[in-house]
Amino acid sequence: MLKKIGIIGGGYIGGVLVQEVVRRRLARVVAVTDPAPFVNPNDPQDKQDVTRKQSVAKGKALDILAGNPLVSSDVRIEAGRDYDILAGCEMVINTAGVPRKARPDGTFPSREELLSINLKVTVQVADAIAKFCKDAMVLSIANPLDAIVYTLYKKLNPPKNKIVGMAGVLDSTRYRYFVAEAAGVSVDNVEALVLGGHGDDMVPVRSCCRIAGMPVEKFLSKDKLDAIETRTRKAGGEVVGLLGFGSAFVSPAFSALEMAEAMIFDRKKILASCALLQGEYGINNLFVGVPVMLGAGGVEKVIEVDLNDAEKAALAKSVEGVKKTCAEVDTMLK
Ligand code: APR
Repeated sequence: MLKKIGIIGGGYIGGVLVQEVVRRRLARVVAVTDPAPFVNPNDPQDKQDVTRKQSVAKGKALDILAGNPLVSSDVRIEAGRDYDILAGCEMVINTAGVPRKARPDGTFPSREELLSINLKVTVQVADAIAKFCKDAMVLSIANPLDAIVYTLYKKLNPPKNKIVGMAGVLDSTRYRYFVAEAAGVSVDNVEALVLGGHGDDMVPVRSCCRIAGMPVEKFLSKDKLDAIETRTRKAGGEVVGLLGFGSAFVSPAFSALEMAEAMIFDRKKILASCALLQGEYGINNLFVGVPVMLGAGGVEKVIEVDLNDAEKAALAKSVEGVKKTCAEVDTMLK
């Protein structure tokens, strides 16, 4: 159990995170900070005064705390609009920023199209971490995932083991679920790995997919697996299209919690995560999704998977996309 964990952004993902931190007793105190509802300077003063007194973070906190007796939890919540409640956090999970949302015509933006708005948010978040909990382990979820983690790294310059992004666990769990469903087996029996950037070019690695230790091809045809891998790459968009109001929030929160628990309880779990590569996979100074060992030291090890030529080429293509978005970050930060 940590003494204190911070959740930055108390929206859909942030809300599930706070609820689960309380229920799983991951820290004695959870701090959740969110500026919403945003005060509109064009509103009449009395309306601005009302809005300023409201707080999504405080509202969610009270709602969750009121349920504490039903889950036997004495975890405390500190909540508010300001960042100072992050003081003393040993770990922060960043969810601040806008999600993808379906347009009236049913189309929706790519994660990369969120960059310009979410970069501004991320700069504020980085300043807050630097000011109030500079030694905290940083686990980031906001999109475009790889570029936002890169931005936090550029702004905070932490040791590379202390910053990691959540996407590979989510992409891999989607792959696992679709395989389990198609094969008619328990999700517990399916192991899967998705590498690369958290975009539509991510790389589900079929050679690493196993059902009860056996190659997945023993259970599912090539055509079925092709379709599952295509669906996995676009699974985030499938949810955006169905929800209408935003993007997936339960499975992303659970994926981040899987990573957080591995670190909090020093489990040495190998999980696909967005980590800084310095030569591994022939990639330098970029954050990309690869298997890493997560323990009390954060990202304790990067593991290099043996890939076949097609998988190597697919990873190279995905990394090109990450590189392009990070180049945009470099330009915008100037
Ligand atoms: N500091 C802290 N929180 C902020 C800031 C900021 N500067 N700017 C916005 N937020 C808050 C918003 O007020 C909102 O409550 O971030 C929260 C984001 O929550 P949602 O809009 O509900 O989005 P969510 O579904 O939780 O996704 C958050 O994760 O998966 C990604 O693409 C997704 O980038 C998005 C992020």
